[in-house]
Amino acid sequence: MTDHIYWQDGSLFLLDQRLLPFKKKYVECKTLKDVAEAIRNMTIRGAPLIGIVAAYGVVIGMKEVIRSKGRATEKDFDRISTTLLKTRPTAVNLLWALKRMQKAYLMAKDDPSLEGSMLDEAVSIHVEDIENNRMISLFGAELIEDGDTILTHCNAGALAMGGYGTALGVIKAAHESGKKIKVIATETRPYLQGARLTAWELREAGIDVEIVPDNHGGILCYKGAIDKIIVGADRIALNGDTANKVGTYMLALCAYRHKIPFFVAAPISTFDKDIKDGSYIEIEERPEKEVKYIMAVPITLKDIKARYYSFDITPHRYITNIITEKGIIKKPFKKYIHQLF
Ligand code: MRU
Repeated sequence: MTDHIYWQDGSLFLLDQRLLPFKKKYVECKTLKDVAEAIRNMTIRGAPLIGIVAAYGVVIGMKEVIRSKGRATEKDFDRISTTLLKTRPTAVNLLWALKRMQKAYLMAKDDPSLEGSMLDEAVSIHVEDIENNRMISLFGAELIEDGDTILTHCNAGALAMGGYGTALGVIKAAHESGKKIKVIATETRPYLQGARLTAWELREAGIDVEIVPDNHGGILCYKGAIDKIIVGADRIALNGDTANKVGTYMLALCAYRHKIPFFVAAPISTFDKDIKDGSYIEIEERPEKEVKYIMAVPITLKDIKARYYSFDITPHRYITNIITEKGIIKKPFKKYIHQLF
């Protein structure tokens, strides 16, 4: 499942994740505005994929400027970068990818092949993400035992990355090595990443999957129905505090209380070396209409207020290990996270 993003004839094509698994339709992004909108309106989502799409967005933005003015200045780069950065604030992979694109721009800015160099960098970010996913998955699969029932939240699969997946990658690699795994996926209201995307991806991979409403963490832990929990991340602070899809914190608390291992799987691009703990992470708030409607069907009265924090912070003490492409991080996280960079 790596056909959810591709570059063709100067356009970026994105599989519209808002319609999955019922419809497979691609959105073509020809302008910077198209790319920014595709990130903002969640045509695509997932921290690493947001970074990859933003990198291609820079290529498209630069191309637009070069077509209209003949060259792209640092000021043009900054405007393009700021437009993309404003789309979604929590996933640090976005900022990370833009910094890499800035380096590539500064190296090649006076070069006639600037456009080509920028595209090469975007492709490298994309390809490296897939390779990192593979490494994370191989390391993480060692933590999974034959016969495990694993709960996951949101979608940290191929659809959220360049390809393969982090949390789902670990599960897939364990399955591919012959371990029998059962997955419980939370539905992940209101966008339903779990019910629509994770369940679909795991079904395609031939893995046994069952969905549950988001409020089932407590009862499942209480009944001893889960052996492990594994999730992805949108930003990880230097002490291991982790931002991920809202509801993750609640699951981590339940896991801690019931002594169930709780793993976070993420590439190093998800670590923010500028923040010492999770209190510095900006939590995205999304429009209340996304809570008040499920797939265009209203679920409450028009004038009822709604609130939607898209992410929450899981304090590091509730996380057993963090799995990266460089290996499995043990506690104390603070000590080992510093060694990643
Ligand atoms: O709002 P989303 O769908 O972009 O949120 C995605 C998540 O929270 C994922 O768990 C996270 O990005 C880690 S895996 C890509």
